[in-house]
Amino acid sequence: MLLAMRFRYNHNAQQSDGICSTYFIPQRLNCLKDNAYYMEQYDKEFLEYMKTKYKLTLNEATKGTEPQIIKFAIAWDVWKQAKSAYSKREQDIYVFMSRDHSRLDYIFQEFRKSKNAAEAEQLFLEFRAGIERHIKWEEDILFPLAKKKMGDDSPMIDELIVQHNRIKDDLKGLADCLKARDTTLENDLEQLLAAHDKMEEEDMYPWIDNYIDDKAKKEALSRMV
Ligand SMILES: [Fe+2]
Ligand SMILES: [Fe+2]
Repeated sequence: MLLAMRFRYNHNAQQSDGICSTYFIPQRLNCLKDNAYYMEQYDKEFLEYMKTKYKLTLNEATKGTEPQIIKFAIAWDVWKQAKSAYSKREQDIYVFMSRDHSRLDYIFQEFRKSKNAAEAEQLFLEFRAGIERHIKWEEDILFPLAKKKMGDDSPMIDELIVQHNRIKDDLKGLADCLKARDTTLENDLEQLLAAHDKMEEEDMYPWIDNYIDDKAKKEALSRMV
C-alpha cells in the first residue's frame, strides 16, 4: 500500500510545477523551513528519495528557485498525506481529537445562535467545560507523549500552548460578560479556534499518529475520559 502511495506522490511531484504556480511561495518556503527539523529527524527516507530522484536536497530547495521550492513542498505535502492516510484507524489520536473539535464547535455555534439568555449560558458552560477538558488532554497527555520523540524544544507545541492561553483568556472574557454578550470576543475566539484546530488536525495529531507506537497511543486514549 505504501508503495502505491509513493508512486502517487512521485507522480504529483513531477507534475507540480505547472499546476502550482499560483501557490503562495513564501508560505511554502516557511512550511519547509518549519518542518526541516522533523524531516531530518523522522523523514530521512523522504529526503533521500528527493535527493536520488530529483537531485534536490532540502537545503538546496529552501535556497533555490520557485519551481524547486514548489516541487519540494508539494512532494512533502503528498508524503504527509500518504502517511496520515496509511495510519488512519479508529483508535487514532487524529480521529478521536478531531471528533471532539467538531463536537465543541457545534456547541459553540449553538451558543452563538441562541437568543435565550438561560439557554445561552447553559451552552456556554458546557462549551467551556469541554474545551478545558480537551486542552487538559493535550497539555497533560498528548504533548508530553509527543515530546518524548520531538524533544522538549518543540516550536509546534510551544505555539499551540500560546494559542491555548489565548483561548483561555477569551473564555474568561466571555464568562465575565455572559449576560451582555460580546460578539467581538466571540468572533475572535471563533477565528482562533478555527486556526488552532486546523494546525492540530493537519500537523500535530497526524504527527503523533505517525511517530508514536500503538501501545503508547492506546494508553493515552484510555486516559482521555
Ligand atoms: Fe489544542
Ligand atoms: Fe485540540
